[in-house]
Amino acid sequence: MGLETKRVALLGATGSIGRQAIAVIAANPGLELCAAASGSTALDDVDAPLKQVGGDLVELLERAEPDVVLNAVVGFAGIHATLWALEQGVDLALANKESLVAGGELARTALVRGGGRILPVDSEHSALFQCLEGRSGEQVDTLVLTGSGGPFRGRTRDELTEVTPEQALAHPTWRMGPKITVDSATLANKGLEVIEAHFLFDVPYERIEVVLQPTSIVHSLVRFRDGAALAHLGYPDMRVPISYALTYPLRAETPLAPLDLTSLTLEFQAPDTETFPMLALAREAGERGGTAPCAFNAANEVAVAAFLAEELSFLSIPEVVGETLAAVGGAPARDVEDLLAADREARELARKVAA
Ligand SMILES: NC(=O)c1ccc[n+]([C@@H]2O[C@H](COP(=O)([O-])OP(=O)(O)OC[C@H]3O[C@@H](n4cnc5c(N)ncnc54)[C@H](OP(=O)(O)O)[C@@H]3O)[C@@H](O)[C@H]2O)c1
Repeated sequence: MGLETKRVALLGATGSIGRQAIAVIAANPGLELCAAASGSTALDDVDAPLKQVGGDLVELLERAEPDVVLNAVVGFAGIHATLWALEQGVDLALANKESLVAGGELARTALVRGGGRILPVDSEHSALFQCLEGRSGEQVDTLVLTGSGGPFRGRTRDELTEVTPEQALAHPTWRMGPKITVDSATLANKGLEVIEAHFLFDVPYERIEVVLQPTSIVHSLVRFRDGAALAHLGYPDMRVPISYALTYPLRAETPLAPLDLTSLTLEFQAPDTETFPMLALAREAGERGGTAPCAFNAANEVAVAAFLAEELSFLSIPEVVGETLAAVGGAPARDVEDLLAADREARELARKVAA
């Protein structure tokens, strides 16, 4: 690290990303935790001068005056913090993909106005960011997002009728919070990531591909127009992209073992988009633009919560999202009020469909 200490505000400090971020910060003398927030879990064991359980994240950020905001809140609840950091020109280390999916158009405007940076924490987008190294969209042929395929890769629809939350939560390669783990099982997570990549790297949807790589060693690739393809490899461990986002443009040491190339299996497969329709639904929402991605995200959040509460079957998750998307008006996203209204409308519709 340089001589300056970076002050990090960590939102979602009690979650899977949050806990790993605390370990990364503790191990790095160039980083200082200046504020920590959770939704409802106590923060007694977190050592930070400012702590907040629940409440207004923007108020906390204004008091904390961070150099970087690590938004690791789950879901649309992270939207105000994302837009605040972008408007202020404060570096945004972004794990909370839902805020960029729901508010991508506004976020891009805020980013230009604020003059700051988005440093992706999602491992695939961190990989793409590193492969792109600031190269502009016109040099890119395609972005290729990789995914493990989740615990149900290779299953047929018939084999998914009875799956339980417990089975969906048994991810083969990553240990993550419950919502993103279910999203990985339905492929909604890859869908959210396609939209996230579109907004982060300004590449049209038809040039963003998804391929399955079951061992999660290849974190994503960029194909360039000259025929070269650059890939990012590493063990699946979120401390690496968290560390990269927090110490960018430097690379700090992490406790990870070096990649043992001779022990790796690298196979690639096309995703089964008929059994797992969430990917196509996300693309449809992305292509529609305006508040459609916000509605996709809201309906998915409602459906995943209902599935985890054992009130909805696994196969009904895409049905709820598809029916909600078909019913929403597709209003433009001119300001945050439009987003909040679209989020509310989609949640109400999704709850009705799921009931
Ligand atoms: N986990 C991963 O490996 C991974 C990888 C890539 C991307 N991501 C993304 O990172 C984000 C976090 O994922 P996660 O797996 O860490 O989730 P998680 O384990 O469920 O943690 C979520 C965190 O958000 C907090 N939170 C929820 N609502 C909040 C609110 N209104 N205000 C403040 N804090 C709130 C929770 O606090 P409480 O404890 O009080 O509920 C918790 O600290 C998601 O957007 C996910 O898609 C995660």
